Order: sequence, then C-alpha cells, then structure tokens
Amino acid sequence: MYSTIVGTGSYLPERVLTNAELEKLVDTTDEWIRTRTGISRRHIAAEGQTTTDLAEQAARRAMEAAGVGPGDIDLICVGTTTPDLVFPNVGTLLQDRLGIHGCAAFSLEAACSSFLYALGVADKFVRLGDAKCALVVGAETLTRIVDWTDRGTCVLFGDGAGAVVLKPSKDPGIICTRLHSDGRYKDLLLYPDGVSKGFGLVRQGKAGVQMKGNEVYKFAVNTLGGLVSETLEACGVARQDLDWLIPHQANIRIIEAIARRLDMPPERVIVTIAEQGNTSAASVPLALDTGVRDGRIKRGQLLLLEAFGGGFTWGSALIRF
Ligand code: UT7
Repeated sequence: MYSTIVGTGSYLPERVLTNAELEKLVDTTDEWIRTRTGISRRHIAAEGQTTTDLAEQAARRAMEAAGVGPGDIDLICVGTTTPDLVFPNVGTLLQDRLGIHGCAAFSLEAACSSFLYALGVADKFVRLGDAKCALVVGAETLTRIVDWTDRGTCVLFGDGAGAVVLKPSKDPGIICTRLHSDGRYKDLLLYPDGVSKGFGLVRQGKAGVQMKGNEVYKFAVNTLGGLVSETLEACGVARQDLDWLIPHQANIRIIEAIARRLDMPPERVIVTIAEQGNTSAASVPLALDTGVRDGRIKRGQLLLLEAFGGGFTWGSALIRF
C-alpha cells in the first residue's frame, strides 16, 4: 500500500513587500538581495492574519482540487514553526475551521523542513491503513518572528501556505521519504526564545530569527547534495528519470547547486523564490502547487522534493505524481 497525492493547493497573503521597501528599512540594496538570494519580493500576512488563516485557504484549495469534502478527511497534519497559539495546535484550529470533527489533527515543527516531516508522517498513516484521506499542510507566518533591524535575515523571509491531500493507492504515489536532523547545529539558525525559556527576550524586544548565514549556506549545499543522492539510491531511481526538482526556496544559489548535482536543467526545477522569498515550511508545497496549477507538473511524472532548515533538520520525498 502506498499513499498518493490527489490534490494540491496554496495561498499567499495579499500584501507584497518589495526589495525597494526593504532598502528604506535596513542598509541593503535591491541588487544585493537579488544577486545573493534571488529574491525580488515576498508576501506578508496582514495584521491579525494567522498561520491557521493561511493554512485554511491552502487546505480548501487542495480539497477542492482533490474533490473531497470535510467529511472525507480523517487525518490533519500541519508542519509549522509559527503557530497561532501555544495550544490548541494549528492542526486542531484548522480542523475546526474546516468543519471537521473527531479525526486526529496535530502540528509538528521542524523549521523549514516541517512540511517534509508532516508529509513523511502522514504517508505512514496512509500506508498503514490508519488514514484514508489525509490533509497535509505547510504553513508559516515567519515574518512575525523576524528581527526587522537585521539585514542578514529580514530580507529573506515571506509568509504563505501550501497543502496536499493524500489517499491510499496500490501504486506509488509517495515512493519514499527521508527525514534527518542534527541538533549539534542548533546555534547556527534559531529563534532564541519560547514558552519554557520564559519569553524574556521577547519582553525585552530582543528576540528574532538569528542565522550564521554563510555557515548555514555551506552546510545546506553539502547536506542537500547528499540527501538527493541518498533518496535516489534508496529508491533505486536514476537522476535522469526525474522530471522535476521541487526544492526548498531559501536561496537561488543553493537551488542551482543542487540542480547541477542532479544534472537537471533550470527548466526542470520549480523556482518561486523571486516572488515569494523563503516561506519556510510553506515553500515546498507552494512550489509544488505552483507547478501543478500552471500545467508544468503532470500526472505520472517523477518529482523530487527537498528541504533544509534550523536544527538542523532536512528531508526529502520522491513522488510519482
Ligand atoms: O531556510 C533555512 C535555511 N536557510 C538557508 O539555507 C540560508 C543560507 N544562507 C544564505 O542563503 C546566505 O548565506 C545569505 C543570503 C543569508 C547571505 O549571503 P552570503 O553571500 O552568505 O553573505 P554573507 O553572510 O557572507 O555576507 C557577505 C556580506 C557581509 O558584509 P561584509 O562583512 O563582507 O562587509 C554582510 O554584512 O554581505 C553583507 N550583507 C548584506 N549586505 C547588503 C548581509 N546581508 C546583507 C543585506 N544587504 N541584506
């Protein structure tokens, strides 16, 4: 038994923040941001708009594409680092919004890899027969926890959500997922406050995403390079058989390095970073839905999804769409 993606959806908040606007906020230039990261603009959640709000829109679109209603969904698994509340979790809040009652609903956090983690977990439920119709979401309002005085990070992130619906299938579907993490690197990319830390930094106005960008960059390129090879080997698939690379959208130079490693020409890589920035857990499902809706990604094609984030965490999925 496998699980298979029967519908995709995504959502971006209306407000767009351009590089030109950021030039007025911190000591940066449009040219630096575009050449070092590939980002031109990003979407920002409106005041009061939460991660669950974004997740709901993406989920509704994925359910519509899949032709399923609230009564069909029997598992909700959301990947996010920026929940609305400490609890209830975003999965449960989303469940209520969608008018679904009683099924397991939860969120998990693995920074930018959260969607791949959520997909890996939901895939196991479906494969084991414990879910017949799973809603899997990556949703994030990361701009809420960015330090808007730090030019090294505030230019990178955006908000958004992406979702897929999984059903059981005799044929793959999700061929395999690979998930990894290594907490030794916890100090290279983090948000240094939280519930049991007491929110002391938040109260002093000193909290914000912190990143040693250059070190993260080098580690991400090496690790993702190893991850894509490991994934193909584990599934016995040759890189020439891949139709699409659907990478985490953190930096265009990282995306290009991984595409080169796979010998994939740019026209077989889904790139959304220029318009969306790094939307963390939402970036991979947003890219997937973009490619599906504009007609590039077609049924039967072979997709490789990958992500890397704070922790470090990293993960991939090889999918026959
Ligand atoms: O999604 C989770 C995983 N995240 C990632 O994978 C992100 C990985 N890292 C990166 O993408 C890149 O490291 C960054 C885009 C964050 C930074 O690019 P970089 O080429 O590694 O720059 P750098 O950090 O080595 O900084 C080079 C210079 C520095 O100036 P000096 O010391 O050479 O004078 C920075 O202060 O660029 C400066 N700089 C900026 N200049 C203008 C850093 N940020 C900016 C900025 N505008 N926004």
